[in-house]
Amino acid sequence: MAATKPPSCSTRLRSPATTAACFLPASLLLFLLLLLLRRPPMGSFPPTIPGGSVSSRRAELYGRMARDLDERGAAFLDGGETSQSLTLSELFDTRDGAVVPMLKAANPPVRANVLYLDPEFASVISKAVKEVFLPYFNQAIWFQNMSIYHFSMFHTSHHLEPIVATEDEIEAEVDAVKRVTDDVCPLKIILDQVVLTSTGVLLGLWQVESGTDPADIRSRLREALPRAPQKQLYDPVMLHTSLARILGHPKLPQEGNAQSLDHVKFFHDLVAQVNSKIRGFQATVKELWFVEEYDVLALALNGKMKVRRLQFGCKEGQGNGKI
Ligand SMILES: *[C@@H]1O[C@H](CO)[C@@H](O)[C@H](O)[C@H]1NC(C)=O
Repeated sequence: MAATKPPSCSTRLRSPATTAACFLPASLLLFLLLLLLRRPPMGSFPPTIPGGSVSSRRAELYGRMARDLDERGAAFLDGGETSQSLTLSELFDTRDGAVVPMLKAANPPVRANVLYLDPEFASVISKAVKEVFLPYFNQAIWFQNMSIYHFSMFHTSHHLEPIVATEDEIEAEVDAVKRVTDDVCPLKIILDQVVLTSTGVLLGLWQVESGTDPADIRSRLREALPRAPQKQLYDPVMLHTSLARILGHPKLPQEGNAQSLDHVKFFHDLVAQVNSKIRGFQATVKELWFVEEYDVLALALNGKMKVRRLQFGCKEGQGNGKI
């Protein structure tokens, strides 16, 4: 990180560090550089402190996630990392003007329990995201397939702690999950906000109005699946959907403006536009998917996977409310 010459603010901004150098005092800059060097993957925000209601812990977590872009800058313009510690440039290729995911076998396959968002709801969100982002990133963005919008809950095997299982053992896991979903009530959820992380992932962050809380679902799954990895990938109160991954620099109508473009402000403006369209959007979640992902990030990249769809057993209106 030893800079050979001081970054110039008049040339096109190439890195978040350069951006920071133009606007921040030296002590703050040093702090920011240290944060950038750590460049933690998405989902590695410090856990919320237990205590307080689940919804206030969730609000506090989302507030911190919304500040991530300010605090770490647009690190993804230099090749940000995903939650699986892969850089986005390792995941995608541009061929004949189209973005193509480069699928890699996950060995052993990842086994994920995710809540599923019906396309009836996902299509509204997907449309708003595309309307705002497509004009600026036509070949430098990957949109989550709206047929498989999902909320990651709990893994019985993941890349950090693979738990190899036989077919019988996997069937036993599915049975255990089924016993959990039999008692789960449909969740009425509301889109709290859309945020863009410093790694370039556009996320929808949701609050829960009624139904079985995700924190509760996760703890029931933990109890039912004792062999699952001790370390799970997400904060227990988090309820999020990935909406898109930004892969490169925006295209701007007037090239002249690119010289002085403040990337962080530009991205905030786009995110604000999405929020003005869909913040407060309500949806109902009625099923959990047990997914074997045979490719890395199969749910995100339309990879190879095997899905078991499990309907919640509890009827609507019987929700046990917030915990
Ligand atoms: C989106 O997902 C659905 C369901 O898995 C699949 O049939 C469809 O081909 C996917 N779309 C694209 C563009 O990959």
